[in-house]
Amino acid sequence: MLVNGNDILLKAREGHYAVGAFNVFDFGCVDAVLGAAEATNTPVIAQILDWHPSGNFGSRPQEEVKMFMDMLIYRAKLSPVPVCIHLDHCQTYEGCIRAIKYGATSVMLDASMKPFEENIALTKKVIEAAHACGVTVEAEIGHVDGHDGDTTGKLYTTPEQAKEFYAATGVDSLAVAVGTVHGVYAEEPKLQYDLISELREAIPAPLVMHGGSGLSPEQYKECVERGITKINFATYMLLAGGKGISDKVAENNAAGKGNNFIDLYPEGVKAMKEIVMEHIGYFQTKPIA
Ligand code: 13P
Repeated sequence: MLVNGNDILLKAREGHYAVGAFNVFDFGCVDAVLGAAEATNTPVIAQILDWHPSGNFGSRPQEEVKMFMDMLIYRAKLSPVPVCIHLDHCQTYEGCIRAIKYGATSVMLDASMKPFEENIALTKKVIEAAHACGVTVEAEIGHVDGHDGDTTGKLYTTPEQAKEFYAATGVDSLAVAVGTVHGVYAEEPKLQYDLISELREAIPAPLVMHGGSGLSPEQYKECVERGITKINFATYMLLAGGKGISDKVAENNAAGKGNNFIDLYPEGVKAMKEIVMEHIGYFQTKPIA
C-alpha cells in the first residue's frame, strides 16, 4: 500500500526502530527493495533521486521519469506492506513540485548548503505546497559529506540548530549530520552517539541518517537506539547487485558458458534483495501487525 513518510516514520520513532530508505533506479532495484520488505513483512521507503540537472534523472526525458514513477506507484499499491515513495536530495522547489505531480508521497528539500535562513524559507515554501497534497517533507541541516571520506565532522548538526529549524518550519523529518558520509568510507566513520541522543531530545520529528552504507551491525544498533529513525542506504546495495552479476559471469566463464543478460540480471536483483533484507534486520524495522 502506498503511504506517506509520516505514516511510516512517526510509528517508527515511537517504537524506537528505524526504517530503511533504499534508492531505486530501475525495476530490478524496485523488485529487490519491495521484495525484501514483503519477505520481512516490514514497511519500506523507496527513494528516487532528484531529476534536476545534477540528479540521476537529470539527463532523462520527463516521459521516462513519469513512466518509472507510474510503474513504482503501481507496484507500491499492489504491495501488502506500507511503501513510501520519496524524492531524495532535491535542491529545488520546482523539483519537489514535479515529484508531487508524478505521485511521490514524500520529498526531501535539500538546501543544507544554503545559508540557514534560506534553508528555512525554502523548506517552508515546499512544506506549504506538499502538505496541501498530503505529502511529507524531509529537510537537512548541517551537511553529510559525500565520497571524499571526510569524517572530520566540521558540519555536524547541533541540537540548537535543530530546535530553531524545527520551530521555524515544523518539518516532518530532519536529516542530521552525525558522522556518516555518502559512499564508501575512506576511513572509519566517527559517529557521534551522544549527539544523536541530544537531537532526539531536541525535536519531535524523526531523525534521518544519510550515508547509511558501510556501518557495522553494532553501529547501526547504537544509532537506532539513540534515535535515528530513517536510514538512507544505496551504495552497498548497488555494489552487492554488481557483485551478484560479476560472480555469475565468473561462474559462467569457468564453466565455458556464455553470459546471457536474462540470466545475469536476476543475480544482481537477488543479491540486492539479500543485502536489503539483512539491513532491515540491522535497522530493527518492526514487522507490520
Ligand atoms: P549511501 O550511498 O552511503 O548508502 O548513502 C545513501 C544516501 O544517503 C542517499 O541519500
